[in-house]
Amino acid sequence: MRSSPVSRTRVAILISGRGSNMMSLLEAAKAPGFPAEIVTVISNRPDAQGLARAQAAGVPALGIDHKAYPNRESFDAALDAALREARVGIVCLAGFMRLLTPRFTESWSGRMINIHPALLPSFKGLHTHERALEAGVKIHGCTVHFVTAEMDVGPIIMQAAVPVLEGDTPERLGARVLTQEHVIYPAALRLVCEGRARIAGERVAVDEFEVATQALVVPGA
Ligand code: GAR
Repeated sequence: MRSSPVSRTRVAILISGRGSNMMSLLEAAKAPGFPAEIVTVISNRPDAQGLARAQAAGVPALGIDHKAYPNRESFDAALDAALREARVGIVCLAGFMRLLTPRFTESWSGRMINIHPALLPSFKGLHTHERALEAGVKIHGCTVHFVTAEMDVGPIIMQAAVPVLEGDTPERLGARVLTQEHVIYPAALRLVCEGRARIAGERVAVDEFEVATQALVVPGA
């Protein structure tokens, strides 16, 4: 007789575009022992490339077109209903480019995470790689954080840093960051699903997790 499988957290991924972070989460969730199962992918843009990629990967994919709703509240209510229908425990925003209402973020508080292509609290919002280059920072990166009512603000779970190199374009720098996004998002989701990333005020306390201690300093020896 086979032993019963360990229960995994039911996860929804919300996207608006190509879905490369979604693919990294889907890939990670295939591993035996990964504590999450991706039960649905939802896009506010029915033509999002990521929806087709999710379908091709055999994951239920749903377009909820925000333009079909008169206001943010009614769109968020439809989104909330779809998530509850799918009995979702954790929501991952992965390139979901639509502001959510405080009512929605509060009702998913502690159960919704986001990936942002910058080292928060620097460079909230859009065009992060262009702005990092303009600012002349030497280190850039990405952040996974719990979602709160304010955009790109919320307790930080994990960050990865990359060097900004001479001659970088936003595209080159963005590609270097994206590679790290695909590393930290599955790792952060694992921590959250295993209950090892707990919100303590503005911060996240992480239990029993070995953090690489090598600091990245650029330029450096
Ligand atoms: C990613 O770089 C993600 O960090 C960013 O959008 C991109 C989506 O790419 N998200 C934000 O800017 C949210 N503030 P993907 O669809 O290939 O994952």
